[in-house]
Amino acid sequence: MKNKQAPTQVERLMREDDFIISKTDLKGRITYCNRIFIEFSGYTEHELLGAQHNIVRHPDMPRGVFKFMWDVLGQQKECFAYVKNMAQDGSFYWVLANVTPSLDAQNKAEGYFSVRRKPSRGAVSTMSDVYRLMLDEERRAGPKDACAASLALMTGLLNQKETSYEKFILSL
Ligand SMILES: Cc1cc2nc3c(=O)[nH]c(=O)nc-3n(C[C@H](O)[C@H](O)[C@H](O)COP(=O)(O)O)c2cc1C
Repeated sequence: MKNKQAPTQVERLMREDDFIISKTDLKGRITYCNRIFIEFSGYTEHELLGAQHNIVRHPDMPRGVFKFMWDVLGQQKECFAYVKNMAQDGSFYWVLANVTPSLDAQNKAEGYFSVRRKPSRGAVSTMSDVYRLMLDEERRAGPKDACAASLALMTGLLNQKETSYEKFILSL
C-alpha cells in the first residue's frame, strides 16, 4: 500500500455523466469498484479490492455522518449523503452518494452498494458549511461523544428548517 498522503487543496471534479460505483461486504470492505472509482481514488484495483472503504475517507468528514449512514443501512434502508473523499495523492472530490443494502434471497443484507454522482456546487457549498460545524462540534465533544454531539447538531439544523434528513439532502 502506498503511504497515505496529507490532504491537499486540489479538487477533482466529477463529469456530468460519471458514476463512481463500489460494492462492499457487510464490514465495509471493498469487493467491487468501477473504472471511474479507480480513476478518482488514484488507487489501483489491486489496492482497492479487500481494503476498508475508509481508504478514501477525508479528514474533513465528520464521523457522525458515517455513523448515521451505517445506522440507516442497518435498518435495511438506502441512504443519500454528500461525501468529501480523498484520493491517494491527497486531492479531494465531492460526491452525492446513494448507498443501498444488497439483499439475498432471504431478504438479509449480504453487502452494500454505492452509486455516486456529481453534486451541484450549491450543495457542496452548503454541505461544506454543515460538515465544518459538525466537525467543530465533534472536536469540542471529544472522541467518545463526537458522533452523538455532531448528530444532535445536525438534527437541530433540520428541526430549524422543519425538514427531514432525506428531504433536505435531496432538496439541495
Ligand atoms: C457501500 C459503502 C460505500 C462507502 N463509501 C464511502 C466513501 O465513498 N467514502 C468514505 O469516506 N466512506 C465510505 N463508506 C464508509 C466507510 O465504510 C467508513 O465507515 C467511513 O469511511 C468512516 O471510516 P472510519 O470510521 O474508519 O473513520 C462507505 C461504506 C459503504 C458500506
